[in-house]
Amino acid sequence: MPFIINGTEVTPDIDPDATLLAALRGPLGLSGPRFGCGAEQCGACVVLLDGAPIFACNTPVTAANGKRVETVEGLGTPDAPHPLQRAFLELQAGQCGYCLSGILMASAALLRRVPRPTEAQVKEALDPHLCRCGAQNRIVRAVLRAAEQGVAA
Ligand code: FES
Ligand code: FES
Repeated sequence: MPFIINGTEVTPDIDPDATLLAALRGPLGLSGPRFGCGAEQCGACVVLLDGAPIFACNTPVTAANGKRVETVEGLGTPDAPHPLQRAFLELQAGQCGYCLSGILMASAALLRRVPRPTEAQVKEALDPHLCRCGAQNRIVRAVLRAAEQGVAA
């Protein structure tokens, strides 16, 4: 079941009945996508599959066959953060960070599709994502700031 993860082809050594999230966090060693609810209710596990946000907790690993998966590990690095990550840092948009990898990936997908979204469009895109720290307002402002700065996410 080969697929492309952050630009590199991989064939994870995992049961074909496993979820994509289990493959990412297990054999592929990518701990950015998080396990929250396991039931498509929190968004902590969201990654991009061929550019679209999906719940990796409830997606079989076989659904990624031959496709392109993107996780927060492919978005930026500590030395070269993605503009979204810079805006989140500047506005301190988050506390514990548990929700942020899913939110960053959903935001990146939004800005690719709609480079200058309205506040309502940001809120709609992030609606499936829970932030238990209550940082939602700062998160929305950070996405808008990244958009203002002209992110080609
Ligand atoms: S862990 Fe996937 S939506 Fe909550
Ligand atoms: S920053 Fe803690 S859950 Fe969002």
